[in-house]
Amino acid sequence: MRQAARPAAEPVRLLELAQLPRHVAIIMDGNGRWAQGRGLSRQAGHRAGVENIRRAIETLARYEVPVLTLYAFSTENWSRPKREVNALIRLIGPFIERELKSLHENGVRLRHIGHLDPLSPNVRRRVEEAMELTKGNDRITVNIAFNYGGRQEILDAVHKIVRDGVPAGRIDEERFASYLDTAGLPEVDLVIRTAGEQRLSNFLLWQTAYAEYYSTPTFWPDFGVEEIERALTAFSRRERRFGGVEENGVRRANGRRSNGRRGGAKR
Ligand code: FPP
Repeated sequence: MRQAARPAAEPVRLLELAQLPRHVAIIMDGNGRWAQGRGLSRQAGHRAGVENIRRAIETLARYEVPVLTLYAFSTENWSRPKREVNALIRLIGPFIERELKSLHENGVRLRHIGHLDPLSPNVRRRVEEAMELTKGNDRITVNIAFNYGGRQEILDAVHKIVRDGVPAGRIDEERFASYLDTAGLPEVDLVIRTAGEQRLSNFLLWQTAYAEYYSTPTFWPDFGVEEIERALTAFSRRERRFGGVEENGVRRANGRRSNGRRGGAKR
């Protein structure tokens, strides 16, 4: 029997946006409530949360957002029940196993920020191999913040600066930022938090100094393409002054600029 020809895949339409963020940071909240609403365990919620990561990466890569940081596990999350902590840690290995090949083929550079030392040598090795394999990719850089805390990162930077013997007079913002886990990456332009909360929760404290915030009631596992587009649209409409003022149509700000890039309809 002859098979009907498959219709060509729908071209992906991208929204026209006045400006796009160079660095999006997402606090993936609401896995527990998502699961609870379905009569599932919290662990099942986290599994659904991991499933959603790939969709977020793909969507932001299509919009040519160069950097994405995902808050997967904070230094405070150790206070959760042991069972849940273990379940979260156990998600990392299979995530890498399942997704690495395709992420690599799609030009994703994977990085970890935070401290890997409490993880098992096996998981640490997998994370390090994933970073090594993808380090030359430049379509989108994805930082997974696991066992990460903003205050800890700042303290670590101070310790390294002292260890390097940098004189106080030579420590400016640029030098300080070069000691953070995000060294070399643009500052965060847009923080997205799902599940209705409006807190930063110790996430990228230095890097979000001038970030725009976007909060949505949607739980992380349901935060899909349209939701991301809504967040990008909201961002594109924000007027960013970076503490400066507009004078005769000229913006005066402390050397910081939004990139003004436009998202085009691309295929
Ligand atoms: C918040 O939901 C979510 C977390 C603490 C963890 C988010 C982690 C993932 C999506 C998995 C990351 C794993 C890998 C491998 C990258 P919650 O449990 O606080 O939800 P609730 O507020 O509804 O209880």
